Amino acid sequence: FGRKLQVLDAVPSTQDIARQLAEEGAPEGTLVIAEQQTQGRGRMGRAWVSPAGKGVWMSLLLRPRVPLPQAPQLTLLAAVALSRGIGKEAPLPIGIKWPNDLLVDGRKISGILLESAAEDERLKYVVVGMGISVNLEAEDFPPEVLEKAISLRMASGKPLDRAEVIASVLEEFESLYELYGEQGFEPIRALWEARSVTLGRSVTLSTPQGTVEGTAEELDGLGGLRVRQADGTLRTVYTGELGGR
Ligand code: BTN
Repeated sequence: FGRKLQVLDAVPSTQDIARQLAEEGAPEGTLVIAEQQTQGRGRMGRAWVSPAGKGVWMSLLLRPRVPLPQAPQLTLLAAVALSRGIGKEAPLPIGIKWPNDLLVDGRKISGILLESAAEDERLKYVVVGMGISVNLEAEDFPPEVLEKAISLRMASGKPLDRAEVIASVLEEFESLYELYGEQGFEPIRALWEARSVTLGRSVTLSTPQGTVEGTAEELDGLGGLRVRQADGTLRTVYTGELGGR
């Protein structure tokens, strides 16, 4: 990954550049990194704080040969890759909140945004946007974001080399993606479950189909979250947002 690389200064969002490259036929593994994003975006239409020189803001282009319903698996794969890669650089207790928020002490250090294009019910490409709050200081976060977010520097007490964080994350990503290509989702699911801070907890999820409440039990084969509801039935959620931390 990253053999085709674009390192940019300030851009609105690395996602848009990577998507444009994808449309132009760029190969799998193409990577776009920016020093700063002026319109960094997160999941659910939220903004993503991306100040100059303080974090890792990057988008990776993949062309997985899988049917469309398997797209959520890549989100979970990315979360495992990030948690392992970051964990190598900073020895922090990183937990994954479904589907792909990386938390330290309940506060988010990294987020993933997957944007995909499909053709004939198969994925044409996936752009995996990864934001890692590496060296931000408290004053870099708006107060309402600071309640829920933290940087690696704040959590570990020392600044980190961003290039090393990028290298470790890409190394993990590449080897997990290879494993996924060879053995499918099963090994990724096990790695995700081992790092999850969501399973076994009672959860409230907002989903496009309304609120789902119950106990998060496990992932299903596609990467959805299986929730045991009060009436004993299981409900699987593929897109949604967990309330609380
Ligand atoms: C989230 O947790 O809501 C996802 C955050 C994703 C942020 C990254 S930073 C690089 C890429 N470009 C963007 O505009 N967003 C993603």
